[in-house]
Amino acid sequence: MKAFLLRQTGGIEKLRPEEITKPRIEANEVLIKVQAISINPVDIYVRKDINALKTFILPEAGQDIFILGWDVAGIVEEIGEDVKDFKIGDAVFGLINFRGAGNAYAEYVAAPESQVALKPNNISFEQAAAACLAALTAWQALAIHAKLKPGEKVLIHAAAGGVGHYAVPIAKHLGAYVVGTASADNKEFVLSLGADEFVDYQNQKVEELVTDADVVLDPMYGDHLLRSIKAAKKGGRIISLLTDFEGAIAEAASMKEVHGYHMAVASNGHDMKEIASLLERGIISSHISASYDFEELPKAHQHQEVGNSRGKIVVKI
Ligand SMILES: NC(=O)c1ccc[n+]([C@@H]2O[C@H](COP(=O)([O-])OP(=O)(O)OC[C@H]3O[C@@H](n4cnc5c(N)ncnc54)[C@H](OP(=O)(O)O)[C@@H]3O)[C@@H](O)[C@H]2O)c1
Repeated sequence: MKAFLLRQTGGIEKLRPEEITKPRIEANEVLIKVQAISINPVDIYVRKDINALKTFILPEAGQDIFILGWDVAGIVEEIGEDVKDFKIGDAVFGLINFRGAGNAYAEYVAAPESQVALKPNNISFEQAAAACLAALTAWQALAIHAKLKPGEKVLIHAAAGGVGHYAVPIAKHLGAYVVGTASADNKEFVLSLGADEFVDYQNQKVEELVTDADVVLDPMYGDHLLRSIKAAKKGGRIISLLTDFEGAIAEAASMKEVHGYHMAVASNGHDMKEIASLLERGIISSHISASYDFEELPKAHQHQEVGNSRGKIVVKI
């Protein structure tokens, strides 16, 4: 099969297409003939930086060849002897082995059955591949970690991005009042996702406009959390996707009695079934900002690296 291999971290030229043998499945795994994958910011960090690679892929001792990627949609071609919930020919999608080796940039991927869900019939493989890591993050952040409740006010930063464009409709579905931030060009897009209010983060100070959020979803680096703490009400909850609550940030949170969590998304088939149901009912949908052919995968990386402004970037296999 064809796969994109990484033998050394660095620029997009380090992603090289090569012929390798198909993966063998374990008893609890399905072999997926991949139809589409999606690119996430973490794919870029891992391609460029050996420490990120070690953190997210958890290489085996001595391993020096890697296949990046975790978001997969495709058709089950083989099933392991213990697999109960899937059969050959099923269309499935999922976030595979995060953290660990997802090995998604390939024509075939071995996936534990506990990490995938049936793809709804009313969406394409590309839309399904898009709705893995990003959609699971939005769901796990708001429904599981923040336990968002009807009537609460939630501030969603980067509401037009991969995570944000699922988080806004998920928050509305959970009954919240939603404020979304993005650049001005994305105003109509964010409002079309169901946000009640829009803040242009480049020209407005969100922490002056919002000071009473029950929940804030913050996917930014560093001091940005200080602004989220100001935007949260006393006793509010902040889910941070990148930055730890430590030092001055922990102090500011404690002064305001704000509860801060730094979360990491995790592969989970049960949660993928929730995502499938939300997609099937049209409560969330995948906005594909760009779709590349498999041989163009390095270009898809370049696109994500210079900045994906809206929705998701996918690759067709
Ligand atoms: N902890 C976890 O488990 C986890 C899971 C998923 C993602 N993440 C992290 O979360 C971040 C976002 O991921 P993603 O997939 O949504 O990325 P993405 O698809 O690349 O989207 C990034 C978005 O950020 C917006 N943006 C940039 N600066 C902003 C600011 N100061 N305020 C508001 N919006 C801003 C951009 O919108 P404009 O073009 O309108 O500026 C763009 O829509 C990444 O760093 C990713 O690594 C962490």
